[in-house]
Amino acid sequence: MKRPPGFLEGLRLDRALKLVWQASPKWTVVGFASLVVQSIVPLATVYVFKRVVDSLTAPDGFSSGEPGFTALLYLLVTAFGLAVVGSLATAVLGYANDIQSHLVADHMQRLVQAKSIDMDLAYYEHPRYYDKLHRAQREAPSRPLRIISELSSLALNGLTLAGALLFLFAFNGYVVLALFAAAIPVLVYRIKYADALYQLFGEKAASERLSGYFNQVLTTAADAKEVRAFGFGPLLVGRFTALRTKIRGDLQRISRQGYRRQFITESTAALAGFGALAFIAYAALQKSITLGEVALYFGAFQVAIGSLRPTLSGLAALYENNLFLSTFYEFLDVPQRVEEPSQPRPMPRPWRSGLRVEAVSFRYPGTDRPILDNVGLTVRPGEIVALVGRNGSGKTTLTKLLCRLYDPDSGRITVEGHDLREFATRDLRGEISVVYQDFGRYHISARDNIVLGRPELPPGDPAIVQAARWAGIHETLTRLPQGYDTVMSRTFADGAELSIGQWQKLALARAFVRDSQLILLDEPTSSLDAASEFKFFEKFREMAQGRAALMISHRFSTVRLADRIYVLDGGRVVEEGDHDELVALDGLYAQLYRQQASYYDQRKPLSAAKRVAFS
Ligand SMILES: Nc1ncnc2c1ncn2[C@@H]1O[C@H](COP(=O)(O)OP(=O)(O)OP(=O)(O)O)[C@@H](O)[C@H]1O
Ligand SMILES: [Mg+2]
Repeated sequence: MKRPPGFLEGLRLDRALKLVWQASPKWTVVGFASLVVQSIVPLATVYVFKRVVDSLTAPDGFSSGEPGFTALLYLLVTAFGLAVVGSLATAVLGYANDIQSHLVADHMQRLVQAKSIDMDLAYYEHPRYYDKLHRAQREAPSRPLRIISELSSLALNGLTLAGALLFLFAFNGYVVLALFAAAIPVLVYRIKYADALYQLFGEKAASERLSGYFNQVLTTAADAKEVRAFGFGPLLVGRFTALRTKIRGDLQRISRQGYRRQFITESTAALAGFGALAFIAYAALQKSITLGEVALYFGAFQVAIGSLRPTLSGLAALYENNLFLSTFYEFLDVPQRVEEPSQPRPMPRPWRSGLRVEAVSFRYPGTDRPILDNVGLTVRPGEIVALVGRNGSGKTTLTKLLCRLYDPDSGRITVEGHDLREFATRDLRGEISVVYQDFGRYHISARDNIVLGRPELPPGDPAIVQAARWAGIHETLTRLPQGYDTVMSRTFADGAELSIGQWQKLALARAFVRDSQLILLDEPTSSLDAASEFKFFEKFREMAQGRAALMISHRFSTVRLADRIYVLDGGRVVEEGDHDELVALDGLYAQLYRQQASYYDQRKPLSAAKRVAFS
């Protein structure tokens, strides 16, 4: 985590002001205008009262009859009017602040979302990314407005302080100096406190997230079954409590330190203050100043002390708020690793030679184990290619590289002979229909679940039903209470819940609705029953016609239908051919195939079959 940026850098407010302005120019103007009115009203009131006093004491003033009294009335009405305007400005300012606080928080949330969408997938595997995100979302949103309100009260108090200091300066420069000397330690320690707090928030982001995670497991539907079935709720509650106790303890420690320092520095400041008062009194006793001046200086002194405190704490708060806001900028400034080309190549349509993976090696960022090692394969349009291999052999990793969620460390992947890096990622991904192994289940209507695959599609487009038919989910959807418009979760009113296999079909429909040239399926039938799987492949060839299809599967009933099969082992392509060729080769494929086939072919009890499978 970054060190605090230093006092002056910490008071750079341009980005904060810009955030507030961008969130709502209108309400910023309204707020600023009411602030100006609010600060003018007291001065104007003083002026009106000066006119009242002047007129009362003037020889031809109000005392000389009716017209004079009317003029006095006018002045009093003006003063009343000013008071009303002042109250109105206060109310409008409060209202503007309320509205702005929501607008600014939403605006910042949108910025975080926009950045998250563009962020490399690699960041989602980085604890530091989550810490940054957590802080950007949790600490930042309230800060810009707090900065604005600190700034305005700082301006008001600062002006008052400057005036009072001018008076005091006329009396004695040393008194002013003493006041400042006493004030500086107060400020220094407030800044240090803000730094310590910021540092602590950085350090505890990970434990905060972990405690948040335990809370989520305990309170959301996703894990509710296992929490109950295994009864591990109390265990997680215990871990949650331990984490919170530690976090609270650290916060209390910093807070205790802060208040101790505040007590010491403020006592010193009070000492300096009373010293200065004693000095004024001494001057009066020496008769070097008049009683009137004593009253004036005492008054000025009270005002100076009264406005010095809020000015100092205003400065410190400004610093602290800006410091915490810096976590938000840090998040927005995270660089992109999967780079967009400056001159993207237009995506060819239709593909003729298709997709080639050429000598690709890859390890996940921040790790040193090679996951793909010199992998080469080809998928031509009109061809269904299968990729098989044991768990962890790198199949899913390859699909992520094809979608350019990561770039290879060496080698290249090409479409029509051009490196994927030459295309805009948006254009490339636009040509891919993908169903990931851990496909998404979105708590929106079934129709929307499909439309997400092609967001520009109008909700009534026949392509939606066509995709659902291909995926074998159309009949199920029509039987739901609101048909395609039923919300796919019982968390929301009138929702319905699908089975896992039905969810998988919905994910397939989402991919199939897309007008793409590459179909990428990672275990597309893992949850389908035998009949559904059979039907799926009956339709798949028709659906995939003219497109390139790459399918990953552990099910040989699926794999054997492919035109070509690649066998991946430990990140390397070890075999290639169609089903019959690979069985004849009698290598890894033949071994895996026979192991699975033995479940079906041999009428053995489970224990015996297990011995075959894992031998
Ligand atoms: N995000 C990641 N960061 C670091 N390592 C990862 C990441 N994702 C996967 N791995 C590692 O890469 C290896 C290959 O994983 P991958 O998901 O590609 O396997 P797979 O062939 O799809 O396996 P399965 O058949 O179980 O789906 C695994 O050993 C895994 O630990
Ligand atoms: Mg996988």
